[in-house]
Amino acid sequence: MDKHEYYDLHTHFLPGMDLGCKNTDEAMQMIKMMVDQGCMGAVVTPHFYPDETVESYLTRRENAYLSLCEALKGTEYESFMRTVVLGTEVGYHKSLIFNSWIPKLCMGMSDYILLELPFAKWNHEVLENVQRLMEVRNVKVIIAHLERYFEYGNKKLINELLQMNVMIQMNTEHLLKFGAFRHALDMIQNKRVDILCTDCHGTFFYPPNMEQAIAKMERAGLHDDIQRMLENNYVIYSECSRMAGN
Ligand SMILES: [Fe+2]
Repeated sequence: MDKHEYYDLHTHFLPGMDLGCKNTDEAMQMIKMMVDQGCMGAVVTPHFYPDETVESYLTRRENAYLSLCEALKGTEYESFMRTVVLGTEVGYHKSLIFNSWIPKLCMGMSDYILLELPFAKWNHEVLENVQRLMEVRNVKVIIAHLERYFEYGNKKLINELLQMNVMIQMNTEHLLKFGAFRHALDMIQNKRVDILCTDCHGTFFYPPNMEQAIAKMERAGLHDDIQRMLENNYVIYSECSRMAGN
């Protein structure tokens, strides 16, 4: 089985930014795991929540990125850092559409924004605000790990969300987690997943596991879907990388 090259658009390997990796040693181990599995480039997406100013968040992100670049200088992963695009996993808040800093929270300087929706039962206002975010801020919304919102009784609103002009990202974890494979397969085969990412947070907790997820999909015969999703990853990564000037 040939190893698939891939681009990851949802990662948390900037040390000390959030619940992601703790320090530069763990970041380097995560990058090694990613590169060994065929990762050719990545967007880092530390969490942003509105209890922090965007300015403060961007400063923290820049410092974390620069310290990781410095730590990896002279190592075999120095060149990988040149593939890294700075992005954000933006926590949903109803006031988000009023935030004029939204372009700074997009992936690279592109118009793609990775949006994490509430881990709670939604009401219709959530979908209305996603729609307004796209219209008012002129962004392309990628819904982070759609599979994680089902358990809060959101199936009906998720179906409505799927009719909207958003892109859907699934975590590789959903393919590998015990008992979830059939649901993951259903979402993918029904073309409800555009992008497959690891959302990797550490070497043990949410580790980079794209290779295992792809292997499992291959065993299930999802060759076309693997190609389709990885191609989408690549197209979006390329746009973000180009806009970021990498
Ligand atoms: Fe994430």
